[in-house]
Amino acid sequence: MRQKLRAAFLHKFGTQPILVRAPGRINLIGDHTDYHQGLVLPAAINAYMYVGIQKNTCYQNRLYAADLKAYLELDLQSLTAMEKLPSWARYIVGMLDWMKQQEPDFPTIDLLISSTLPIGGGLSSSAALCNALGLAFMALIDKKPDPKDIIFAAQKTEHVFAGVQCGIMDQYASMFGKSQQALLLDCRTIQHQWVPCQLENYQFVLFDTGVKHNLAESAYNMRQQECSIGLKMIQKSIPGIDALSAVSIREFLPFKNHCDPLIFDRCMFVLEENDRVLKSYACLQTGDAISFGNLMYASHAGLSKKYGVSCSELDFLVALTEDYAPVLGARMMGGGFGGNTLNLIHKSEKDTVIQACKEAYKQQFSRPLETYEVSLVDGASTDPFNFQ
Ligand code: GLA
Repeated sequence: MRQKLRAAFLHKFGTQPILVRAPGRINLIGDHTDYHQGLVLPAAINAYMYVGIQKNTCYQNRLYAADLKAYLELDLQSLTAMEKLPSWARYIVGMLDWMKQQEPDFPTIDLLISSTLPIGGGLSSSAALCNALGLAFMALIDKKPDPKDIIFAAQKTEHVFAGVQCGIMDQYASMFGKSQQALLLDCRTIQHQWVPCQLENYQFVLFDTGVKHNLAESAYNMRQQECSIGLKMIQKSIPGIDALSAVSIREFLPFKNHCDPLIFDRCMFVLEENDRVLKSYACLQTGDAISFGNLMYASHAGLSKKYGVSCSELDFLVALTEDYAPVLGARMMGGGFGGNTLNLIHKSEKDTVIQACKEAYKQQFSRPLETYEVSLVDGASTDPFNFQ
């Protein structure tokens, strides 16, 4: 990959680049909790966003998305119509904007991006891109990066330039992932601890529905609004509560009697999911794959029925696995309304299960099911690193 990127950069821009890569992520459990200052348990995976960068002297930012064979020149000063830019370029504008605020003399750049991460599949390709850009910019001006500054800039880019009011999980996991470990992140304190993720003879496999529903972004923001109605109600009775995750299940239960059932379910899901994250963390510590698998199924049920962020393809795939003993757990993952399910499958029987699921999915939805066996890797880094 390194040679390929170097050659492509040289061919396009005539110079040697600094290379950076940032991985995508899976989330073992804890979805739609990060923006409620709750708990998440993600891990970085062996699929990456790559960035090559070098200064130029032509006073134009020259951008090349190698996989799309798309090239454009960007003059930040005269940039008016952001909507006209392709989405990959908007992330670059967002991160450049941040960099310019830190370093007004930041030079104009040649930039190449390429990816082994499926784009838009719920594996956080945009967070990986922003992290890689942040590290690349800092490397270019030879400054030691503060990884947390980069992840907050990446999150802000998502808010401002992509219109998604996301939490911090994706950026964090892509930056701080560690080989063979998951990380328990407390989104209130923004502190994490790693936990080994070796579940004996079981491994994680992603099933990609191939679906990306258009309503994903608006529904994502809508869930936040629904929960903020619940939060305001709680705040009237319990002073000092500044986020949903600061309430316990026991404190929240009595609200059932005077609360819209939909709002109650949305909020209760968040509190229950936080609880499942803690239990899952304990399961990983003791290597209890069976209990962890059950928590995955419970998480999916909550996301689908209480939080309302699943879709028929995701529900079908999760239900399907319940018929197979070698599968201990399955759940939708990330924002929802499509993307991947995460499955915990016995290594020796995974091929049989995968094959059967592919056939059933094809029969039901007349579309192929792509599957990926993932391993857990280190977070974002600047070259030299262990390029495959
Ligand atoms: C998306 C967001 C994350 C998180 C997940 C759901 O991936 O970017 O911040 O909210 O959805 O857990």
